[in-house]
Amino acid sequence: MTSAARKLLVTSALPYANGSIHLGHLVEYIQTDIWVRFQKMQGHTVHYVCADDTHGTPIMLRAEKEGITPEALIAKVHAEHSQDFAEFLVDFDNYYSTNSEENRELASNIYKALKANGKIASKTIEQYFDPVKNMFLPDRFIKGECPKCHAKDQYGDNCEVCGATYSPTDLINPFSAVSGATPVRKETEHYFFKLSECADFLRDWTRAGHLQAEAANKMTEWVGEVGENKLSDWDISRDAPYFGFEIPDAPGKYFYVWLDAPIGYMASFKNLCAKNGLDFDEYWKKDSTTELYHFIGKDILYFHALFWPATLEYSGHRTPTSVFAHGFLTVNGEKMSKSRGTFITARSYLDHIKNPEYLRYYYAAKLNGSMEDIDLNLEDFVARVNSDLVGKYINIASRTAGFINKRFDGVLAPSANNQAVTELLSASSSIAEAYAARDFGKALREIMRLSDIANGFVADKAPWVMAKQEGQDEALQQVCSDALEMFRLLTLYLKPVLPKLAQQIEQFLNVAPLSWSTDALSLSAGHRIHAYEHLITRIDPKQIEAMTEANKENLTPTPAPVKTVAPTITASNDVGEGAYISIDDFTKIDLRIAKIVNAEHVEGAEKLLKLTLDIGEEKTRQVFAGIKSAYDPETLKGRLTVMVANLAPRKMKFGMSEGMVLAASDESGGPFILSPDVGAQSGMRVK
Ligand code: MSP
Ligand code: ZN
Repeated sequence: MTSAARKLLVTSALPYANGSIHLGHLVEYIQTDIWVRFQKMQGHTVHYVCADDTHGTPIMLRAEKEGITPEALIAKVHAEHSQDFAEFLVDFDNYYSTNSEENRELASNIYKALKANGKIASKTIEQYFDPVKNMFLPDRFIKGECPKCHAKDQYGDNCEVCGATYSPTDLINPFSAVSGATPVRKETEHYFFKLSECADFLRDWTRAGHLQAEAANKMTEWVGEVGENKLSDWDISRDAPYFGFEIPDAPGKYFYVWLDAPIGYMASFKNLCAKNGLDFDEYWKKDSTTELYHFIGKDILYFHALFWPATLEYSGHRTPTSVFAHGFLTVNGEKMSKSRGTFITARSYLDHIKNPEYLRYYYAAKLNGSMEDIDLNLEDFVARVNSDLVGKYINIASRTAGFINKRFDGVLAPSANNQAVTELLSASSSIAEAYAARDFGKALREIMRLSDIANGFVADKAPWVMAKQEGQDEALQQVCSDALEMFRLLTLYLKPVLPKLAQQIEQFLNVAPLSWSTDALSLSAGHRIHAYEHLITRIDPKQIEAMTEANKENLTPTPAPVKTVAPTITASNDVGEGAYISIDDFTKIDLRIAKIVNAEHVEGAEKLLKLTLDIGEEKTRQVFAGIKSAYDPETLKGRLTVMVANLAPRKMKFGMSEGMVLAASDESGGPFILSPDVGAQSGMRVK
């Protein structure tokens, strides 16, 4: 199953050292960590490195504002970030800093190599300068009136009110966001990396399979066709005062933060090499046979797919094997928002929800290796974790382990030729393939399908009934042993996502650390397990509420007036006699638990999804539901919900709709489809 051992160097983007890690960042670190753990479980040699991105004007000014040195600020943030990542079980082999000697040396050497290759030029440019602070101002630190809609107090590059983009020189009445002074235009000499001369190399590189198709298309567009000259040279220097590395032989000139940031990947690895006796050059030399993977967000693709490969190529290094970009996180379908309380820091999640593996599981279920944005729907998060992890997976052990412990002194029966076990085992390679392709959603759907098989087996055999019958001891021991073998396999498959839980289960099952090479090593006859202890609890929706409340920032300084409502009862909410229905009226509605066996987009339909529902009848039902705005069809597959089964079929533009699924909504959100509690089966009547 495992191919020959490979050597992989894997990175996640380096978070800026002037802010806390939030749930958006965690999409990336969790995604990378799962992939790294999976590759390690395959027996490959993997080094996973990261660091804080510490340089630049915002960090310099933030430190000044806090009245500390930049070094003190980045040390404080480094400790905080390291702690957050450790608690989310993101297991870096090294978490370093771009403000390190290794990075200074590497950045200088790379710059010198680029220069020797004729790829560095200097040019005099004009820039805005703050005459009070005595510093050149980055676009972000110049504000003024929008030239288009005349909104005041807008940033130098785009207007938050009308969305226009422009350059800082277009602003009306510009002022420095640092001192408030009116900036003046001033000439200065800057250094440039001649990216325009790298077009041929980059055109080939971006098309050579190092990027996802969607990313490659975008980059090809930016590079342009042969003969087109779309790439401009890249300004890699900044003037003092700047927190960063001074450029060799250019006093008062510093490397722009984005020049030394990706070199920080190398520096972190170099630091690891010194600690572990690894060969740095083996991984970075031009003809290296090792593999190099960068996980990033789609917002920083340009830096990783153009600047970075060109920097490496023309300084005599290897280029990345692949750059894997992911989409952005939304919470409840919207951008994270401080006013809605959905701008949630890693720390706040840990304070309220506590268990990091719930979030790891949910993100994994949503990630598919593409650049699509992913949504954290908080209600769905609770439902999914409770039903999949507690209701399906853990349930297998909690219903069977007790019998082995109490009745058989913890000892297992010899493995029988059990068809369900065989089916779980044979899924091993397809699950591995999905993990390797970063389609974690697919891997987890398969694992949950297998959990259903295991639960079905247990329900079928009903060990709790056997336990009360005479002469059934052997059969009882066999059923529970088989169930625990299935539980062992599911734990192995889930281990990249749930490493801590897997470790507890390894202890409970009394087995060596699970890895892909141990899949076929089933628990043997006479093997003794330890006592089963409760492993995981349900999330209470109240924890979510408390978390969003705690993160709500009141952005309007004066509280909104409390609306006074006239105490008259209007006809619509008056529950007068005529407003009641009889129980007979109610029982006319045939409500059923339905399993969503398939969900898909409907071509040309703006609001509808096409659902295929199993309600325990011979044929499935087809229902068109107006829930497209709130649900990704992939996430619905396999879920249980509630449908009206005796609604007259209706012919719609896209086909027959044979019923209706129920969903809640009002002005504040929705639609939210219903989920039954764990235990409900498709076809059950709701009454
Ligand atoms: N410092 C740069 C990266 C330098 S890499 C040589 C940076 N830092 S960041 O802190 O802004 O972001 C770090 C990573 O987190 C980036 O890959 C970014 O795309 C990702 N995310 C930040 N916010 C995010 C979301 N809301 N959703 C998903 N990923 C997000 O960029
Ligand atoms: Zn505007």
